[in-house]
Amino acid sequence: MTATLSVRGLSAGYGGVTVIHDVDLDVDTDAFVAVVGVNGAGKTTTLRAIMGLADIFGGTVELGGESLVGARTSDRVRAGLALCPEGREVFPSLTVEENLLTGAIAGDDWTGRADALGRVYELLPRLGERRSQAAGTMSGGEQQQLALGRALMSGTTVLLVDEASLGLAPVMVDWVFEILGAIHASGTAVMAVEQNIRISAVATQIVVLEQGTVTDRLEADEVGSGLHEAAKAAYFGTGGT
Ligand SMILES: Nc1ncnc2c1ncn2[C@@H]1O[C@H](COP(=O)(O)OP(=O)(O)OP(=O)(O)O)[C@@H](O)[C@H]1O
Ligand SMILES: [Mg+2]
Repeated sequence: MTATLSVRGLSAGYGGVTVIHDVDLDVDTDAFVAVVGVNGAGKTTTLRAIMGLADIFGGTVELGGESLVGARTSDRVRAGLALCPEGREVFPSLTVEENLLTGAIAGDDWTGRADALGRVYELLPRLGERRSQAAGTMSGGEQQQLALGRALMSGTTVLLVDEASLGLAPVMVDWVFEILGAIHASGTAVMAVEQNIRISAVATQIVVLEQGTVTDRLEADEVGSGLHEAAKAAYFGTGGT
């Protein structure tokens, strides 16, 4: 399969401090890659580096074979990348539809925006039902759905998702993960960073990130099979083998 997003040897951080070291990641056009790691492992930094929002100390990022090295964040969005940020960051006093429109490409005409809205409402019908509701009055899970919808407004081919499960009750976590699965099934490649390993229910591949370094990679269906006890032990901090 074609690797639509290809990250090689990426080292990045903030100021003079390197947070992620020599990270390699591939997201194929039909993949749902979940990057799992504990607090401070460098998950957010990895996504920010791919979007051009962290300081890059080395390595390359390509999308569809085109280098994004040195590209502005806005150009990365135009190329097909979009980030759904940690903590959702919806505008509470704006309506659902107004929030969605903030995710449209700047300069896109009204027809383009209406088409993008239509696609998001088709995929995430709850947002259509709530289009006039103030975002701040929605539940955490609904706000997460809105943040995902907003990230899909820019003609996204690879959706980057930062901890969609954050602060949600378990039943809502499963609902949000199902939504991610539906977005993937609709033909968008997904790379989601997560602390919650339950994402393996909808992901195709799992990458383990520890202290800014990739320490394991496995197919998602291996997570429950006991084939990778060492990886799981490392992830859950139970000592490993
Ligand atoms: N803006 C920043 N300036 C300086 N250091 C930062 C900044 N953001 C994060 N860091 C540091 O980088 C390291 C990795 O942070 P990062 O936010 O990438 O981890 P994470 O895996 O997303 O954690 P969490 O699960 O808590 O969201 C931490 O040691 C953190 O203190
Ligand atoms: Mg984070």
